[in-house]
Amino acid sequence: MLEDGVADPVQPDPRVIVFDTTLRDGEQSPGATLTSDEKLEVADALVELGIDVMEAGFPAASPGDFEAVRAIAGRVKGVTVAGLARCNESDIERAAMAVKSAENSRIHTFIATSDIHLEHKLRMTRPEVLKRVDHMVRFAKRFTSDVEFSAEDATRSDWAFLAQVFGTAIAAGATTINVPDTVGYTSPVEYAALMEFLTANVPDVERAVISVHCHDDLGMATANTLAAVRAGARQVEVTMNGIGERAGNTSLEEVVMALATRGDQFGGGMTRIRKEKLVPVSRLVSTLTGVPVQPNKAIVGANAFAHEAGIHQDGMLKERTTYEIMNPADVGWEGTRLVLGKHSGRAGFRNTLQEIGIRLDEDQLNEAYQRFLALADRKKAVTAADLVALVSDQLEVADDPLQLIRWNASIGSGGPATGSVVVSRDGEELSGDGLGNGAVNALFQAIDAAVAIPCELEEYHVEAVTPGEDAQGQVRLRIRSGEHVFTGHGLATDVIEASARAYLAALSKVIQGDSTAMIAGPVSAVSRWT
Ligand code: KIV
Ligand code: ZN
Repeated sequence: MLEDGVADPVQPDPRVIVFDTTLRDGEQSPGATLTSDEKLEVADALVELGIDVMEAGFPAASPGDFEAVRAIAGRVKGVTVAGLARCNESDIERAAMAVKSAENSRIHTFIATSDIHLEHKLRMTRPEVLKRVDHMVRFAKRFTSDVEFSAEDATRSDWAFLAQVFGTAIAAGATTINVPDTVGYTSPVEYAALMEFLTANVPDVERAVISVHCHDDLGMATANTLAAVRAGARQVEVTMNGIGERAGNTSLEEVVMALATRGDQFGGGMTRIRKEKLVPVSRLVSTLTGVPVQPNKAIVGANAFAHEAGIHQDGMLKERTTYEIMNPADVGWEGTRLVLGKHSGRAGFRNTLQEIGIRLDEDQLNEAYQRFLALADRKKAVTAADLVALVSDQLEVADDPLQLIRWNASIGSGGPATGSVVVSRDGEELSGDGLGNGAVNALFQAIDAAVAIPCELEEYHVEAVTPGEDAQGQVRLRIRSGEHVFTGHGLATDVIEASARAYLAALSKVIQGDSTAMIAGPVSAVSRWT
């Protein structure tokens, strides 16, 4: 450390520092709230994965957040634990207290620097911001030598002012300066140019690590992050599965695999992530947060290594590299290709779930095992994607007031389809019959007759969970009831049954008035920390 508390120059290092913010920015995803125990489970998994810095939360946000950060800081080893704080003394004190017991602790303090934020949100002038940065970084340094400073909305800030702000932060002792694309506005070319500008214009820039933090509003978060790495950024702020505010943050797995696969394009920077853990950790985060991974998601999506087209399958059979640029086993799909059948025992079933990052309590496990046996009776090979779908479906509908008991639908040439259904509503059995222009339509009419909840079907999608004739069908739909829109998801080997389950799931939300399921109208969510 130099005499004035300013850090020594950072040595050139080809390693890219992985700063994971799944537990902070990721947890800000709509509906992704985790309990304290779940946060600890994710924290352990992230350590196993090999991240360098864990942003464990925002301690000043609530007593729960404070406790969770404190518990994580006291537990995890081998990583730096960061706590987020606005640029004010009380936030910084809370963060300092929460991360105090960590092996390596970091205070991550931020203030907005764009004129839009200064004028409308902070009501501060630029000189006032500079003064605050200087004061608060110095204040944070009283608690730990490792202080990260972020200029919120950096990419919409005036570049010259931004350079001044970062220079002030470094002079006050910041060891990492972070350049957030808070609203997902920048592009790879612009972001790389900003890195070059900052490298050339921030006084004493070599004394700090330059960090990047992107949001995916225009679908460019990963591209922007990688462009910045190529231009010299040394730390990437990412989340597992790309979860986060609005469209999410940069995906950890995408950046890690892009660097591993196309390092030649990004300055050869490597991470110390254990790639074979990517899929299991992705599953764990998805199961615990309840935020599903889209099937076509790069690296960790169920279809990321599935080959459906005949020409592709033919190529794959001749030589895997014809259509695969990564080996699925390298990112942890090996265990998940492990196929279960109807002769698989409970222990094997439990192990496979654990291998793909799904943890269930005993009751949930028992129910999942029964559902698995029923599925294995109808489907030759049950794959990881089947299990993920089955368990998510089970957890989603477990407490729904409407449950499907029996159904029947028939259709032939020349006549309308008929459907009949028996459902339970809070334990009471209700039945109904319906006619329709197809089996699904007839069954929906039957459900309407049974439950008598006025609504309109607005959207309906069906897809197969895995390739093959015996694949499970997955239905997602949207209904409108009054002013609100509700979504439902259903799974079964039969798409008609999957449709009925999805419809009942959406109607259950109508009954519960489940506001998290409502997607009507542009509601402006108030951020938890601004
Ligand atoms: O997106 C953002 O600007 C942030 C900062 C707090 C780093 O999450
Ligand atoms: Zn963010």
